[in-house]
Amino acid sequence: MPLELINLNYMNYMKKQQVLIFLLITVFSVSALSANTELTIQTKKTTASVNPDMYGIFFEDINFAADGGLYAELIKNRSFEFPQSLMGWNTFGKVEVLEGGPFERNPRYVKLSGAGHPHKHTGLENEGFRGIGFKRDAAYRFSVWARAGAGEQHIRVEFIDEQNEVMERQDVAISGAEWKKYSVNMKAGKDVNKGCLRIFLTSEGPVDLEHVSLFPVDTWKNRENGMRQDLAQALADLSPGVFRFPGGCIVEGTDLNTRYNWKNSVGPVENRPLNENRWHYTFPNRFYPDYFQSYGLGFFEFFQLCEDFGAQALPVLSVGLACQFQNEGTACHVAVKELQPYIQDALDLIEFATGPETSTWGKVRAGMGHPAPFSLKYLAIGNEQWDSLYTERLEPFIKAIRARYPQIQIVGSSGPSAEGNRFDYLWPEMKRLNADLVDEHYYKPPQWFFDNADRYDKYDRKGPKVFAGEYASHDQSTRKANNWLAALSEAAFMTGLERNADMVRLATYAPLFAHVDGWQWNPDLIWFDNLRSMKTPNWYVQQLYSRFKGTDVLQALSQEKPLTGQNGLYASVVRDSKKNTLIIKIVNKESKAQTITINLKDFKQAVSQVKLICLQSDNLRTQNTLEKPNGIVSEEKAMELVGASFELTALSQSFTILEIQLSDARMSAKGKKAGLSDKDDKITVYTIGDSTVKNGDGSGNNGQWGWGTFLGDYLKSDSLHVVNRALGGRSSRTYISEGLWDNVLSRLRPGDYVLLQFGHNDGGEPNKGRARATLKGNGDESQDFVLEETTRDTITVHTYGWYIRQYITEAKAKGAIPIVISLIPRNDWQDGKIIRHTDTYVGWARQAAEQTGAYFIDLNELVCDQYDAMGPGMVAPYYFGDHTHTSLAGAKTNAWLVSQGIKQLEGCGLANYVK
Ligand code: AHR
Repeated sequence: MPLELINLNYMNYMKKQQVLIFLLITVFSVSALSANTELTIQTKKTTASVNPDMYGIFFEDINFAADGGLYAELIKNRSFEFPQSLMGWNTFGKVEVLEGGPFERNPRYVKLSGAGHPHKHTGLENEGFRGIGFKRDAAYRFSVWARAGAGEQHIRVEFIDEQNEVMERQDVAISGAEWKKYSVNMKAGKDVNKGCLRIFLTSEGPVDLEHVSLFPVDTWKNRENGMRQDLAQALADLSPGVFRFPGGCIVEGTDLNTRYNWKNSVGPVENRPLNENRWHYTFPNRFYPDYFQSYGLGFFEFFQLCEDFGAQALPVLSVGLACQFQNEGTACHVAVKELQPYIQDALDLIEFATGPETSTWGKVRAGMGHPAPFSLKYLAIGNEQWDSLYTERLEPFIKAIRARYPQIQIVGSSGPSAEGNRFDYLWPEMKRLNADLVDEHYYKPPQWFFDNADRYDKYDRKGPKVFAGEYASHDQSTRKANNWLAALSEAAFMTGLERNADMVRLATYAPLFAHVDGWQWNPDLIWFDNLRSMKTPNWYVQQLYSRFKGTDVLQALSQEKPLTGQNGLYASVVRDSKKNTLIIKIVNKESKAQTITINLKDFKQAVSQVKLICLQSDNLRTQNTLEKPNGIVSEEKAMELVGASFELTALSQSFTILEIQLSDARMSAKGKKAGLSDKDDKITVYTIGDSTVKNGDGSGNNGQWGWGTFLGDYLKSDSLHVVNRALGGRSSRTYISEGLWDNVLSRLRPGDYVLLQFGHNDGGEPNKGRARATLKGNGDESQDFVLEETTRDTITVHTYGWYIRQYITEAKAKGAIPIVISLIPRNDWQDGKIIRHTDTYVGWARQAAEQTGAYFIDLNELVCDQYDAMGPGMVAPYYFGDHTHTSLAGAKTNAWLVSQGIKQLEGCGLANYVK
């Protein structure tokens, strides 16, 4: 049957800055085509799985990114703690700065006393961060800590516009000699980009004021100590997988005293001590002596944002080295033997994020309103460090963290640039020290990015993985503008990150934010003023990679090689097994359109929809601006295709993404017509696992049943097959070693599902008795054992997580969709609650699924929640014979809970089959 050929010939039209794409779908025969470049995609050959955390954001307080930027506070120097205590303030009448206020780590406050004449005034006004932005009709919360000298005193708070007109005023009465927080909401009358806040003493006084604050009420998630809505939204729209914070060089400090000290950034905001920001003086030609860190956006807020965005946190901590760019010699650094407090800071941070409420630092987190732990998987020690100064300090950190928190992935540095002596010294050192990831930084010209799309193709796969932690294309010819040339070169380079997703596990552009009136470094991903913000072309590139990251890389070759610049073309291809899509990314750097013939090998699935997304400009210098933010934005078109070979026209200087939605159904009518026949139209759902999935022969003759036997009752079984292939007594290892998995694997067809639940038999001895154990954990380590009681063969045993990942990878390679399920709990209780073990097999199964981009159902949690609600008495009949095996009622309930878990899986086609 000849393959039908689909021509996706989309002709672009650029009118000024608007891209219009027209799609023509025409059917030709293969021979009629004359394409320049051919790209053959092995749709069944996955070469790597994409880390779900892969594309993320890197936040540093540079360019007024925090105070004056994302952190929505509008008052500069709100606690009068700048070295020049009234910087940012104009005072009039009698205003004194005193010490001994209510917050011991920010002791200064101001005293407002009568001006000495009824026609004179006392007060002060704040200039904000390059002015205060007010939005018409928006509400603002003014707050202040205050006390009155005697009786009731009054202050008047005013919003002032650029013409020195009062837009809004409110009186605040202050009474009592105790410090209290006063707060009042006010509305702005119009849009003002550079207004100010003025406070008058309107009674006799005196009045003491401290921590004068003004926030928009409408912050991100309406939090009081909140973030600027538009800027936080611009981050959320990137769907970041990872969030690196708080820097950058500010982690190190110009000297150790001014390093970012996370412990100072948590607890009540009023008592977080001020820190100097090294970016106020780093570049004397961009000097900002009023640049400090209030720590109002501190580690709690960073973790909270990670949670909001669904991103993994990647905190960076000081390794005890002051910035190596700014310091010669060793006296400025902490001596290795005195490093313990720094190491303790790292251990305490892990406790702050993940410790129970009862722990010292977990309690601080809980006190701030987050009793549940935050997720913390990665931790970087040091920013851009180098030489043995770094490695001799990193080593004790790694030892201490591994000993206490082996699950944390440690990120080490490869220095400040992508090559050179420092880089060459550090990579082998990172291997020696067993870092999990190595942070690479490259700020390079566009040509470097175009030339380096194959950078990671030859990296050594053994040892640490790569975190591309800071990168940006610097077009010096335009004084490093955020233009289309820079963004296009990043898109081309990123095909190489994606193709090497087994090696490059995380990537974050840098820096993130810049205030148009107060920046030190460019280019930056998002620019803003006091009212508006703008996404750069680079932002759109990042967003498209993140949005279309997929779960598995597919082999895509042009004349046996990846497309890394041949004919000015770059490509990478992934499959998203969750959404059941195939995603092709193509960059054409040439100034002419090019046609590419795309062949999808082993492509048998029916196709329902294709989405075509394009970023393009004929002018490489095109930029977005605050006034014209849509110079370059992504354009999307929907269309349909059938067939396995087609032509794609890549526009001049374009980044194109083709998302092909593969049908869950075995074959659509259209697909059949196209000759893509298959034997059976129905999907098969296989369940594999141990006796809690299928007990004995599944007939319940011993009173025990597994949930796999009943799953079909809760699925639309007339539209699919449900086959229970679990077997009692098997561990994640022996299910494979006994050939049971191969049996399932040989039957798997694209679009089938594999539901796997193991763990109950993974404990014990690997080589004695039933000899079925696996190593504990989810690591890559393995150990050899001699089967002492049987054959005396030597077997290699891997971790439980390793075996789960093996199932996932192999199922995916067959085009099937694996769903990992955590093991059901035992009937063990404490204080009326079922005992949960979330950190062992449940946690490892989750980690394995996350790592490989598989679906995960926490059945253990679903069952535990259900049992806790029922209590031990009602649950007792759900087990039979012992505390592990379920009765008919228990197995049915578990099957129902699995079906409910499937329903919750975002983007999973199987959810449509739940009754
Ligand atoms: O991103 C700006 C700076 O570049 C970072 O602070 C530092 O890590 C790098 O030198």
